[in-house]
Amino acid sequence: MLPSAALWKSNSVNDQLRVDPPDADRCMRFHTGTRRRIARVMVLQIEFMATACLSIIHRSTDLFSASSTIIIRSAVRMAATQQVSITMDLSSLFPSGVSLVLADDKMWHRPLRDEEETLITGSVEKRQREFRAGRHAAHTALAKLQAPDIPILRGERREPVWPDGYIGSIAHCRDLCLAACAIDGEIAGLGIDVEPLTSLPKGVDRYIHTEADAKIMQGGQDPYPERLVFSAKESLYKCYYPLIGRYFGFQSVSLVDIDNGGFDFEPTEKCEIAFPTQMTFHGRYLFDATHLYTACYLIRN
Ligand SMILES: CC(C)(COP(=O)(O)OP(=O)(O)OC[C@H]1O[C@@H](n2cnc3c(N)ncnc32)[C@H](O)[C@@H]1OP(=O)(O)O)[C@@H](O)C(=O)NCCC(=O)NCCS
Repeated sequence: MLPSAALWKSNSVNDQLRVDPPDADRCMRFHTGTRRRIARVMVLQIEFMATACLSIIHRSTDLFSASSTIIIRSAVRMAATQQVSITMDLSSLFPSGVSLVLADDKMWHRPLRDEEETLITGSVEKRQREFRAGRHAAHTALAKLQAPDIPILRGERREPVWPDGYIGSIAHCRDLCLAACAIDGEIAGLGIDVEPLTSLPKGVDRYIHTEADAKIMQGGQDPYPERLVFSAKESLYKCYYPLIGRYFGFQSVSLVDIDNGGFDFEPTEKCEIAFPTQMTFHGRYLFDATHLYTACYLIRN
């Protein structure tokens, strides 16, 4: 049996101290209009300074990881551009039984139902577009599984709230959006991420990579290894968060065996998360000419 999310929650001091990453909708308002570039630089500077102070005080806590996340998410955020279509076969990312949908052009624009639109009222256009694309792709993925057609709302840490008996994950970058869904059964968790094939901004990698990650990247054959590790950790987080119900930062795990389209992970010494043991983790990745895709899923033992 899968333990309930509540069982995995912790009331540790770190939980109480933790600084939440900024809400994406609020955050993106900084990037509007003619002040977008200036605001972005200012936000990054403030966040770097704040994190430097926090890291001295809370160097080994989740607080540090959460603060780092503010920087990382801001630094890797890109300006809005046209969405692209891909011809890559992504089906090998997940086992059969997972419904994977790439958002088409219309999905980026077509309004959602009222309950979902409310979640992006006042958000900048880029955010509205990616949110719509993600929700439409998720609805299409769920429909293929004969799931009830109900709004996909948002949990307290931005996680999508799936219909009872279903699980899933959404990812978007500036020009691509994907959703993966499955019936909650043999597959107990899903996470997906998509990233552009570009290097990470300078200085960001030290917040993402552990020493073990750095070593494993040196030996790898894949392009943009630092982006690959970043993406793998984001999909891993999306996969585990609904089960654990707790934030955990990039320094909580190191990737192992990241090669030949697959990866695994192990918790670091700093990790305060009890990852569920009654399920087996699988991590996969793919490259095409412009993007990197990472996926994780959990199979019940
Ligand atoms: C949650 C997170 C991974 C999302 O990444 P992102 O760069 O904002 O954007 P992505 O396009 O990749 O994914 C966004 C989608 O992730 C999903 N998501 C957000 N928070 C989530 C959570 N707590 N659990 C599961 N899925 C979540 C949402 O569907 C969101 O899209 P939506 O808001 O339109 O519904 C990132 O914001 C974050 O907080 N990272 C820090 C935690 C982390 O990665 N730790 C590493 C542990 S090794």
